[in-house]
Amino acid sequence: MVTVPAPSHLSASDSDRIWHPWTPIQQAQRLTLVSGRGCQVRDDQGHSYLDFRSGTLNATVGYGHPSVVGAISEQAARLMTWDLAEVSTLPARELADRIASLLPAPLEYTLFCNSGSEATEAAVKIARMWHRLQGRRGRTVVMSFADGYHGVTAAAIAATASPFRRDGAGPLPEGYVHLATPRCAACAAGENHDGCTVPGAAEWEAQILSVGPESVAAVLVEPVLSVGGIITPPPGELAALRALCDRHGILLIADEVATGFGRTGKMFGFEHDLGANGRAPDIITTAKGLTGGYAPLAAVTVRADIHQAFARDPLLGGLRHGHTTGGHATACAAALAVLDIVEHDKLVPAAAARGAQLLDALAALKERPAVRDVRGRGLLIGVEMASGEAAALVARAAQERGVLIRAFGPVLTVAPPLIISEEEAGHGARTLADAIRTLNMGGAR
Ligand SMILES: Cc1ncc(COP(=O)(O)O)c(C=O)c1O
Repeated sequence: MVTVPAPSHLSASDSDRIWHPWTPIQQAQRLTLVSGRGCQVRDDQGHSYLDFRSGTLNATVGYGHPSVVGAISEQAARLMTWDLAEVSTLPARELADRIASLLPAPLEYTLFCNSGSEATEAAVKIARMWHRLQGRRGRTVVMSFADGYHGVTAAAIAATASPFRRDGAGPLPEGYVHLATPRCAACAAGENHDGCTVPGAAEWEAQILSVGPESVAAVLVEPVLSVGGIITPPPGELAALRALCDRHGILLIADEVATGFGRTGKMFGFEHDLGANGRAPDIITTAKGLTGGYAPLAAVTVRADIHQAFARDPLLGGLRHGHTTGGHATACAAALAVLDIVEHDKLVPAAAARGAQLLDALAALKERPAVRDVRGRGLLIGVEMASGEAAALVARAAQERGVLIRAFGPVLTVAPPLIISEEEAGHGARTLADAIRTLNMGGAR
């Protein structure tokens, strides 16, 4: 066995034995981050960066927030964890109540897990088992947008159509069908064309009818597609999808992992289209903003009657599913402190205001030949470049100028913490414009 000395201090040139997910093995120059405050993070070389991506869309209340740090430390000292099978802990109880209080009435009971992918996994299982408990054993199919992203575990990857994310992961579980993404195909292909055609409820109903509605358990959608390219369904289409699900006895699952807790300028992304005028989803999944990145935690919140139906499970009389650290007490304490900040500091309207500022500032970029589109909702904005290569070059140029932005394929995702100030937002937008200016269009298409 090779013994590896543990260095007391690591510099950028030292070896790095982390297997970096979603990253080319050969990629040179990775940042090593060591600290953060507000919207700024600092690397091991002493350079500061404006976080224009909220870590991975999760650092909603910024770094080093004393009240979250205090809540974590107090709970860790009192009772750091207990598995929620058979037992409750105070922070988990309080958090389940708090989530219910933020949602429309039928969404009441929460199952906790650790990541967004696990939440997808649990939501799909709950939907299928719920139909089964009603005697509808044939309802197993889950339909999701072709460009949606729901995570990397078995159900989550099966619900994803992108070959980049799923090739080689098979054999995949059966029973997943992809709905047309609500985006004009010609725009997506970067073609010059007149008049866009955006698939919506009419196409989705035809797809559901061709699968056979009696075999469909659930439709699983993000209110704004995040990793798939910051795509917002046209006004009215999600409400029409809700009606479609009602008509055909299908559960609607909203994946709010990226959009939940203020990101889009509403507490939940579905509220732009559902909730007030229409019905809410039947199940929602949340993660990222739930703890603002201070601890791993995810939640699946369901209608009260869905929860109650599991009393009829013949083997247990409950849900046969759970994780050792799902609803970890310290993570729940972090979430409660984060939700206090979101509400007390009015971060949901702040996200709407800063989002409008950024969308306005970034709209001018559409004049640049390298930029195909700028779009988004609240602080979830996509700047679509002509290619993935161009987006990666711009992200690198922005980093060199002290602003961290993530590229998902050709789309740069501008998603700063919800606490970002007007000045910081302006600085980030100007830096991005500057980074795009450095593109040599001959080399980066
Ligand atoms: C909408 C959505 N769902 C699910 C996931 C998966 O979450 P996790 O990375 O925590 O497994 C993500 C992650 O980016 C996401 O954006």
